[in-house]
Amino acid sequence: MTHLSSEAIMNVGIFIPIGNNGWLISENAPQYKPSFELNKQIVQSAEHYGVDFALSMIKLRGFGGKTEFWDHNLESFTLMAGLAAVTSKIKLFATSASLVMPPAIVARMASTIDSISNGRFGLNLVTGWQRPEYSQMGMWPGDQFFGNRYEYLSEYIQVLRDLWGEGRSDFKGAHFQMDDCRLSPRPQADMKVICAGQSDAGMEFSAKHADYNFCFGKGINTPKAFAPAAEKLIQATARTGRHVTTYVLMMVIADETDEAARAKWEYYKAGADQEAIAWLGQQSAVDTRSGSDTNVRQMADQASAVNINMGTLVGSYASVARMLDEVAEVPGTEGVLLTFDDFVGGVQAFGERIQPLMQSRMHIDTPVASRATATQLTAA
Ligand SMILES: Cc1cc2nc3c(=O)[nH]c(=O)nc-3n(C[C@H](O)[C@H](O)[C@H](O)COP(=O)(O)O)c2cc1C
Repeated sequence: MTHLSSEAIMNVGIFIPIGNNGWLISENAPQYKPSFELNKQIVQSAEHYGVDFALSMIKLRGFGGKTEFWDHNLESFTLMAGLAAVTSKIKLFATSASLVMPPAIVARMASTIDSISNGRFGLNLVTGWQRPEYSQMGMWPGDQFFGNRYEYLSEYIQVLRDLWGEGRSDFKGAHFQMDDCRLSPRPQADMKVICAGQSDAGMEFSAKHADYNFCFGKGINTPKAFAPAAEKLIQATARTGRHVTTYVLMMVIADETDEAARAKWEYYKAGADQEAIAWLGQQSAVDTRSGSDTNVRQMADQASAVNINMGTLVGSYASVARMLDEVAEVPGTEGVLLTFDDFVGGVQAFGERIQPLMQSRMHIDTPVASRATATQLTAA
């Protein structure tokens, strides 16, 4: 993810399905379990089409329901280590569950994947927002954590930066005390850090410490509706003087025509797994200390709970390409993170049919055959 000079150019990443059924909480959506083979196929395909990066989340407890939503999840670092060995260009990001993974160990795992990937690895840091993920293993520090989780993460990243930068840390804080802690080898590449903070504290963290802030897209076919979150980051970075850019999370549901894509979306919504969604609603209501500005409570909002209200682009390949170009116009935005209803077909359709129509991806060397096919099919 190099910093690009033109605002019209946009990076693209895939939020790979490390958990079952991706991001659709629906009996009518494709039902599948996560596996290395599936994610390898998706990431190799993404790499083939010039996608810039792949990110996997960490999720340690699912939502249950008829679809057993996210009850089946691989682990993020070990998955990305495997993917690093079978790819050569695409950048890879794993998510650190900072509450249960000590920073000195995470720094070393990152160095190891940096070595496997030859400098293509970076980290997404999360505080965690769902108590049972951690209480189930006796590692939830108490609900006061909701109120001080970004102070904790600020200490955590200080240890990481010390170790990656200097190979040693003597950091002494409220949560971490290092005693001549060492790391070698250090990563060969400048280790990039993502945070997906949406609250004031989360955004402040990103503005002070991260390289990229990821936010949720909003609404159906409203590609610029996340602009206030991007603006909030611009204001936060004006205070810190650091260069941190916004990436927005969106689901793509595309087909030959707007009508066909819309029909799929309506079908997924009709099969919503209400039991799993109800659990999400309960969990996201537990945090009463982060302030009203955290977005986790909005994930179960009835408007689009079926895909955790992540912001959705539904339409023909040409419509989706046009809307993705609109995303690129939002000030402060450097990229988009995509999910699909069907990842294997979705990534291929993105590469063959959507990307070749995008102004913001004209810098990608799409195979000539694909570009011609996309244009012909759209004109037809
Ligand atoms: C793209 C993206 C990826 C995320 N990945 C994870 C994850 O892997 N694990 C997790 O517990 N939370 C994850 N989150 C939640 C965020 O870390 C964050 O807690 C949430 O956006 C709410 O913001 P806040 O912490 O500032 O209140 C993710 C959010 C986004 C938008």
